[in-house]
Amino acid sequence: MIKDYRILLVLAFAGLVFFGMSMYKALDQDFTKHQKEYYKLLGEEFPGAEIKQVNVKTPGGGMVVDRCQSCHIGASNPDAVGFEAPLATHPPIVTGTEKDPHEFGKMGCVVCHDGNGRALDLHDAHGEYHGWPAPLLVGEVAQANCNRCHAMESGSLAGAELYEKGRTLFLEKACWGCHTIAGISSSSQAPELTDAGGKFTYEYLVESMLVPSANIDHSKMPTFAWIHEEDTVSAIATYLKGQQKTRLRSSESAPIGYIKPASELARITEPSVEAGRSLFAGTPFEGSVAKGGCVNCHAFRTSDGDVAGGNIGPELTWTLRNRGRTFVKEHIVNARLHVADSIMPTFKDYNDAELESIVSFLETLDYKASAKLDGQALYDTYCWACHGENLDGRGDVAPMLDPLPRDFSKYQFVSSYETRFKDSIRDGVTGTAMPTWKNILSDEQIDTLVAFIKEQSLADTKTFTRIDRALPKVGDPERLDYKQKGTALVAGDPDQGLESYQKFCTSCHGKLANGKGPNAYLLEHPLPRNLINKEFLNQTAVDDDRLYQSILLGVAGTPMPAHDHLTDQTILDIIAFIRANTTEESK
Ligand code: HEC
Ligand code: HEC
Ligand code: HEC
Ligand code: HEC
Ligand code: HEC
Ligand code: HEC
Ligand code: HEC
Repeated sequence: MIKDYRILLVLAFAGLVFFGMSMYKALDQDFTKHQKEYYKLLGEEFPGAEIKQVNVKTPGGGMVVDRCQSCHIGASNPDAVGFEAPLATHPPIVTGTEKDPHEFGKMGCVVCHDGNGRALDLHDAHGEYHGWPAPLLVGEVAQANCNRCHAMESGSLAGAELYEKGRTLFLEKACWGCHTIAGISSSSQAPELTDAGGKFTYEYLVESMLVPSANIDHSKMPTFAWIHEEDTVSAIATYLKGQQKTRLRSSESAPIGYIKPASELARITEPSVEAGRSLFAGTPFEGSVAKGGCVNCHAFRTSDGDVAGGNIGPELTWTLRNRGRTFVKEHIVNARLHVADSIMPTFKDYNDAELESIVSFLETLDYKASAKLDGQALYDTYCWACHGENLDGRGDVAPMLDPLPRDFSKYQFVSSYETRFKDSIRDGVTGTAMPTWKNILSDEQIDTLVAFIKEQSLADTKTFTRIDRALPKVGDPERLDYKQKGTALVAGDPDQGLESYQKFCTSCHGKLANGKGPNAYLLEHPLPRNLINKEFLNQTAVDDDRLYQSILLGVAGTPMPAHDHLTDQTILDIIAFIRANTTEESK
């Protein structure tokens, strides 16, 4: 028995020693070490360790506890310049001012740098651990937080140059055409970024721009060519990080009632080619920032044939001549009027003079290629960027197009549909990005192109013949299982059609019939057709005959399977269902 007591006693003593050691360690935290070092460097006597804390009020009546200066003890001391981190004097925030207007003794550090102000351990304080919503903002990126106190919506604030460069880029690089930031833009085809800084870390924002697909599968956010310029990306990310709905600033808490000059965005009131050129290029017009940026996505050729611009959308050298002013204006304001799944931004903020200016600029693009080009040269000039070098429909411009350009390397496709190609090239395929060429290419040139496409696809030695069947007529005997007896066909019934559609088609074409079913992205190129794309379905070329053929026999050279197990009546019902969704009267 006695022996056991002794063991307990020893254990209790050991426990006490461990506890004491950990208490001692807790007291002698990093900040103590830093503070000792600091006074040593100053040549002063160490007055004893002290937690330096600032409490900053937030508009909601809350309090931010800021203990950063427990380690960063010399931030406000001009004599600590040149000390090692974290003891040094704070570098100038507003260069050119004699004494920085910001008093760290009152506002602390978190208000500009984020991090976890309560923590006293290095990694915790800097917020560099998983789950902390606001990791440290280092260097100029801290400008994201200037608008917690200063009104930054317009005008300029000394010391916030990176932030302001970001805002300018947001306008110049066409981001505004897809994303809303309250007070800046009003488009709704992409997530609103009014609270981007509240929701996302700086790193997430940078990544979303560098590799949009990193966080979202099948991202419709374009990857821009300039995106690898580090300055540019950090400027936009800093600007976006600064977009926060809940800021310290409020009518009472704004420390300086900072009043800014009115917005300096250029609005064009007199149309001109020059104004159009600035909007297209996203360059300042008459000295002030303009909302623009077509050139980030669209290339064009000068009269000498030099190509400049991005390859996210089609080259626009020929567009105005092919499409005319009205189509182009409509497309700028709302591309989805013409192409249901277009990712082209919605530039509905433009006024008439601005639209007119852009169109007038496009009109100046008058490059003419030689009339005597052979098939390959014609293809390389006009078609290559979308349909690709190997005619596989994977040109540089293809990734952001929906539907994708045709894959002509598939012999089955070319051999089955060659007869319609000439019309498709002349008039375009309505409802898709396939442009019209009627005013640029002669019939002879179009024939040359069709022959070229055919010849290239023959490289694939497989043979394939599609046996078409005529669209059955009401009253015809229904095509049934061979054992069953035929009954006469009646006009297609959309409700019956919906039922059959749900049974056989939703896996690929989706519940909404928009081509985005659960299997859509598992298929190889191309995606299932968007069956509520009115523009596509209402063109003359896409008549009931074509729908019947495509459903019964599948689309050769694509994943659209044959459905020859369905009766004619079922197919007519499905066609009626598709038509009911896409007639002009339907919503
Ligand atoms: C435990 C001591 C400690 C605390 C608490 C602390 N820091 Fe630091 N800080 C350091 C040290 C040490 C460095 C230099 C080494 C480094 O970069 O990690 C540093 C560096 C920094 C830097 C420069 C980073 C760089 O990469 O150049 C910033 C900015 C900074 N701290 C801000 C803060 C803010 C804001 C807080 C409060 C939320 C804070 N620190 C709290 C110790 C601390
Ligand atoms: C009013 C906003 C603001 C406050 C408050 C502020 N900083 Fe900074 N800080 C900045 C800016 C902006 C920079 C970048 C200056 C530059 O290099 O252009 C910076 C730079 C620094 C640096 C140099 C390393 C780096 O990130 O470039 C450190 C370290 C630092 N701050 C720490 C602190 C600490 C600690 C506090 C609190 C005592 C604090 N800051 C308070 C805005 C602020
Ligand atoms: C916590 C609130 C707060 C934050 C955050 C803040 N400031 Fe200030 N700022 C102030 C206060 C307070 C003054 C002093 C006003 C005065 O002296 O009347 C000031 C003054 C200024 C001034 C000089 C006065 C003027 O209006 O020209 C400039 C420039 C400035 N800040 C730039 C910045 C920059 C750049 C940032 C971001 C890196 C920033 N501020 C972040 C509160 C803040
Ligand atoms: C063609 C329209 C379009 C344009 C132009 C565009 N974006 Fe996006 N962006 C999107 C879409 C759509 C998303 C939604 C997620 C996705 O599909 O990737 C997105 C996502 C983002 C995100 C991530 C937001 C989130 O909720 O995850 C950021 C940040 C972003 N965009 C910034 C920008 C910036 C900066 C620009 C200008 C350089 C820009 N975007 C231009 C369409 C666009
Ligand atoms: C984010 C990239 C992007 C930006 C910025 C952009 N577009 Fe587009 N644009 C596209 C894509 C993709 C298409 C193809 C799909 C479609 O037809 O909508 C397109 C198509 C077009 C078309 C139709 C071409 C045709 O023959 O069918 C016109 C005209 C056009 N854009 C003009 C403009 C103008 C003018 C601007 C600037 C105000 C602009 N775009 C800005 C991506 C963009
Ligand atoms: C802006 C991108 C783009 C350019 C440039 C382009 N196409 Fe297309 N093309 C498409 C798309 C998208 C489709 C798919 C239409 C669809 O889904 O039915 C397509 C489809 C076609 C088809 C098949 C039409 C059908 O009836 O099935 C032919 C043929 C064709 N393109 C030929 C050409 C030729 C020849 C050129 C050059 C003179 C050209 N395309 C330039 C995007 C483009
Ligand atoms: C395995 C997936 C899959 C299933 C199941 C499927 N489709 Fe498709 N469908 C596709 C793909 C992929 C395309 C695009 C082919 C193209 O671009 O021509 C397509 C295209 C179409 C087209 C357009 C054809 C044309 O001539 O342009 C119609 C109409 C259509 N499908 C109807 C249906 C109907 C109705 C059903 C159900 C009976 C169905 N599909 C089932 C994948 C599928």
